[in-house]
Amino acid sequence: MSSLLITNIGELTTHGPQGTVQHAAMVVDEGRVAWIGGAGHLPMTDARLDVEGRAVIPGFVDSHAHLVFAGSRAAEFAARMAGQPYTGGGIRTTVSATRAAPDEALRANAARLLAEAARQGTTTMEIKSGYGLTVADEERSLRIAAEFTPETTFLGAHVVPADTDPDEYVRLVCGDMLKAAAPYARWVDVFCERGAFDAEQSRAVLRAGIDAGLRPRVHANQLSQGPGVQLAVELGAASADHCTHLSEADIKALADSDTVATLLPGAEFSTRSPYPDARSLLDAGVTVALATDCNPGSSFTTSMPFCLALAVREMRMTPAEALRAATTGGAKALRRTDIGHLAVGACADLTVLDAPSFLHLAYRPGVPLVHTVLRNGAPLCRPSQ
Ligand code: NIG
Ligand code: FE
Repeated sequence: MSSLLITNIGELTTHGPQGTVQHAAMVVDEGRVAWIGGAGHLPMTDARLDVEGRAVIPGFVDSHAHLVFAGSRAAEFAARMAGQPYTGGGIRTTVSATRAAPDEALRANAARLLAEAARQGTTTMEIKSGYGLTVADEERSLRIAAEFTPETTFLGAHVVPADTDPDEYVRLVCGDMLKAAAPYARWVDVFCERGAFDAEQSRAVLRAGIDAGLRPRVHANQLSQGPGVQLAVELGAASADHCTHLSEADIKALADSDTVATLLPGAEFSTRSPYPDARSLLDAGVTVALATDCNPGSSFTTSMPFCLALAVREMRMTPAEALRAATTGGAKALRRTDIGHLAVGACADLTVLDAPSFLHLAYRPGVPLVHTVLRNGAPLCRPSQ
């Protein structure tokens, strides 16, 4: 791969030792950031890209998404907007549609959503299973997910399928289903919630996953206070996701741990629920990530800029905190040190914004501000003109 000099960067956010650089330039070599500097004394490279004063940020790291599914739940969304509560019960609707869909349809849907995310500046996306809930359907969901990302998560413990004994199902998840899924998965997850899996069942699933070489993350405290966050911390999970209903003790446990609190404001928006208390988490010193939770039920968005704008407007995160959470925070939630920042040596995963500053991501909500996206230094998407 040839070297590339990106010139005329109006504002470069690195989230690395160089902080924010005005009037910057950057060299990308072999897919990595090789040099960052000011406008003078530019190194010689094979190619040049003049970004004409635009802002450059690290590519978004969307650390929580459910992209392997079929079917629509638009009617469920409309009913919610008319006053129905969200309970997670619609997951079974998507399970039926997903089981009935051929591989090619699931693959095409995931590819379409990933392309949509890339056009909005996302360079890394985690993908969960969880709409198969049989050995064969969870295995194929993860096999398809692994075609798109190394960040794949086994979520066989999403809900107990209809007409199934819960304890028998947990045994299946921990046994044959995990065995079939593990070759394609890096992470293990569980929906620890009333109506899904309790603390004991969740612990069994996560422990079995850990024994199979997977690393834990948890859907925790989404719909009510409960044991999810404490369990995530107890097992050294990389992240506790949702964190919508937290006690003081939950916040303290997160602050005293390495577990990232991954906030998913698209879910609160789309279920008309109260937003998580991001300020208390940040003020307590918890590492916060922002992600889309893209799924057909509770949050059908691939837009990290939308989630970032919600975090600023509705959760009182500063624009800088929100950008950090959507990049470096997501990388920490995936235990990745090579993405989410633009220090020398990091992956050249970056987004050029059609704006002079990253502040415009929240200042101009709903506006398509992504100009160019590079992953490993290569164009993932280019301006459409
Ligand atoms: O993260 N809470 C569990 N899972 C998803 C929702 C899934 C669905 O409604 O289909 C979530 O919000
Ligand atoms: Fe989720």
